Order: sequence, then structure tokens, then C-alpha cells
Amino acid sequence: MLRGALALILVAAGPAAAADPAAYAAAVAEARARWESSPHGPLLERILPPTFEPKQLPAPRSRGAELTVRYCVQCHNLPNPAMHHAAKWPGIVERMVLRMEGRGNLGPLMTEMMAGVKAPSAEEAKVLVAYLRRHAQKPLDPKKYPEVNRPSGEPFRLACNQCHVLPDPKRHTAKEWPAVVERMQENMEWMNRVVGSRPIDGEPQLRIEDINAFLVKYARKR
Ligand code: HEC
Ligand code: HEC
Repeated sequence: MLRGALALILVAAGPAAAADPAAYAAAVAEARARWESSPHGPLLERILPPTFEPKQLPAPRSRGAELTVRYCVQCHNLPNPAMHHAAKWPGIVERMVLRMEGRGNLGPLMTEMMAGVKAPSAEEAKVLVAYLRRHAQKPLDPKKYPEVNRPSGEPFRLACNQCHVLPDPKRHTAKEWPAVVERMQENMEWMNRVVGSRPIDGEPQLRIEDINAFLVKYARKR
């Protein structure tokens, strides 16, 4: 009786014990070497920036983190759950799972590379979605920050909604924001989007100073 119960607990703990954050970096590097050397390497390289590292994954010992490392680095750099708001993740994961199953829009293009690609089970896909949603971006509520729709909020609004929803300024402190914005500039260059300080179609000018001023004004206090 006791033995039975113990075995059951061990089985239940099985998958969690498989999550080994120390092995994440090596797993990501191995996957990367594979997609990077494919004929589509240069295209895949630019899909997501290399700014987010496995050691930064939230709840690194969770099954969700482990599955993200197992499945989501097979074609591009590691996605950050905080990149998108919760509502966005189910659709993205659905699109990615179709690709992993060889049924995505870039399927034929990627056939050579697709050979080694593994797809999650339906149950694993659910865990992935739940994990990404739990650690997602919190979107800015324009009712709380009406300035976002005024001219003074424009540089932030135009620069920061090109890849994901506008982030809630309370996500970071005034001290933290400039470094985040600087990283986003790198992301923009990496992903070929419009970079602050450079005009979109000639205008408006998106000045980094104005973007930082908006975020710092409404930043979390500490
Ligand atoms: C079989 C290859 C492949 C795998 C595996 C894969 N992706 Fe992607 N991913 C792509 C391609 C191709 C694009 C660019 C086209 C697009 O956005 O659909 C992309 C783009 C993205 C983007 C940027 C586009 C956006 O909407 O912001 C995110 C985020 C993303 N993937 C997340 C994930 C996650 C999360 C997983 C794991 C569940 C995953 N990917 C697994 C091929 C893959
Ligand atoms: C070129 C696409 C792109 C643009 C434009 C962009 N981001 Fe991001 N953002 C990303 C990606 C990719 C991630 C996930 C990787 C990372 O955190 O670097 C992310 C993640 C975030 C996060 C969550 C991570 C964290 O550290 O809190 C915040 C907040 C954020 N962006 C703020 C901004 C702000 C503010 C701007 C405008 C200056 C902006 N983003 C513009 C691509 C972009």
C-alpha cells in the first residue's frame, strides 16, 4: 500500500524532475547550431533577437520553462514570455505547433530543416500556453494613461507597438526603463523595424528621450 503510494508520487514528480535549468543553455545552443546552418539560417536568425537567455526564463524549474526550451528554440532564438500579452499567446502557439507538425505556411520552404523538428503533444501545448500566459506582458490601459493618445505620448506609442502591445509603464521603475528601451532599440535593429531617433517615412521623429520621458513619468515607484 505504502509502496504503491510512493511509486505514484514518483511518477507524478517525473516530468518536473526532468527540468534541469543547468542544461538549458546547452540545449538552446545545440538547437541553434542546427537551424543556423540550414539554408534559411539568415531568415530564421532575424525572427527573434538573441537578447533573451535561458537563465532569464521565469519559473525555470517549471514544466512550462522546460517545454519552451525543448520546443521553442528549434527554429529561432528563445522567445520571452513577457514579449506578448496573455491574449496573444494561444494563437501564436497554435501557429507554431502547425509548423512543427510540418503544416505551417513556411512548411515547404523549410522541409530540409523540418526533418529533425519535434512537435509537442496536445497536452504539452496546453502547458506551454499556460506558462507563456502566466508570465506574459501586461498591456497598457489607455484609460489609466490618457496621455498615450496625446502628442506627447506619440513617440512611445509609435515606437513601442510595432512588435507587441504597449507595455504597462508600471512594469519597471524609472531607473530600469532606459536600459529596457535601449535593449528594444537593439531588438528593432535586429528585427528590422523602425528605430527610435530615425524618422518613419520622413516623420514623425521618434526621439528616445521622449520615449523614456513618458515611461519614467508613469514608472513604478520602487
Ligand atoms: C518549426 C519552426 C518553429 C518552431 C519550432 C517555433 N517557431 Fe516561432 N516562428 C517560426 C517562424 C517561421 C516565425 C516567423 C513567422 C511568424 O511570425 O509566424 C516565428 C515567429 C515567432 C514569433 C515572432 C512573431 C510574433 O508573433 O511575435 C514568436 C513570438 C514565436 N515564433 C514564438 C514561438 C514559440 C513560443 C514557440 C514554441 C511553442 C515557437 N515559436 C516555435 C517558426 C517556429
Ligand atoms: C522590433 C520589435 C520590438 C519593438 C519595436 C519593441 N519591442 Fe519590446 N520586446 C521585443 C522582444 C523581441 C521582446 C522579448 C525579448 C526581450 O525582452 O528583449 C520584448 C519584450 C519587451 C518587454 C518585456 C521584457 C522586460 O524586460 O520587461 C517590455 C517591457 C518591452 N518589450 C518594452 C518595449 C518598449 C518600451 C518599446 C518601445 C521603446 C518596445 N518594447 C519596442 C521586441 C520589440
